Amino acid sequence: EVMYHMRGLHEIEEEVRAYLGCAKVVVVPGDASEREEVKENIGKAASEVLLKHIRNDCIIALTGGSTSYHVIHALKKPNVTYENVLVVPARGSLRNHVEYQANTIVSMLANKLGIGYHLLNIPDNLSKKALDSVREEPEIGATIACLLKANLILFGIGNADEMAKRRNSDEQFMTFLHDKQAVAEALGYYFNKNGEIVYTSRSIGIKLEHVIQSAYPIAVAGGSKKAEAIVAVKDIIKKGSLIIDEGAANRILEIR
Ligand code: F6P
Repeated sequence: EVMYHMRGLHEIEEEVRAYLGCAKVVVVPGDASEREEVKENIGKAASEVLLKHIRNDCIIALTGGSTSYHVIHALKKPNVTYENVLVVPARGSLRNHVEYQANTIVSMLANKLGIGYHLLNIPDNLSKKALDSVREEPEIGATIACLLKANLILFGIGNADEMAKRRNSDEQFMTFLHDKQAVAEALGYYFNKNGEIVYTSRSIGIKLEHVIQSAYPIAVAGGSKKAEAIVAVKDIIKKGSLIIDEGAANRILEIR
């Protein structure tokens, strides 16, 4: 029975992979929209993918969120010493709970692997003027320089309206997203179902072009309710790995 179940997941993986057109898809059992604990399965599978891609002299960028948290939480330190590996937050703060903030997860990973790290302490939605002067700070300049060289990027995918609510956005912004038919949020960008950017959060952080062109993306998301959001960002993951659960995978295949 276990073998049958596993073969079933592999078939779903292949179907989702072919449909989304990404290099690698991993599907774990469960549906995070129904059971929060399923994120632990995603975390475990994604932590193995992440470890496989870490080389000496590499720079890892990561976003916050509960799914990213579970990746780093589940990660088991391999018996190797990393040389010159750094981890940095992909963006300035996005108002997550403290345990799910990119900075927190960055320091967790740095402690587990014994590698160096940078933190980025910048509130979201500062005025453009304030942001420009923050960029001039030497410490922040160094972190931005790191981000520009990131080889690996681990990020979560959210539903547009849920993320906007989590960030305490006002009614006007919620209406804007609705008018623009935004369905997904990742890396501070909001996307419609065709994958077009409808809004870019103002902050300091990794640029989408960089993620697509020069870094290896590892995206994590779970739950049937995230299916539409995952499909919307498929172009970002083309050259990378997507780790989802059965709930998301089945729903993706249903709505295709
Ligand atoms: O706020 C950081 C972030 O990675 C968002 O870009 C993403 O939409 C969200 O978190 C995912 O959060 P979760 O894994 O908790 O659903």
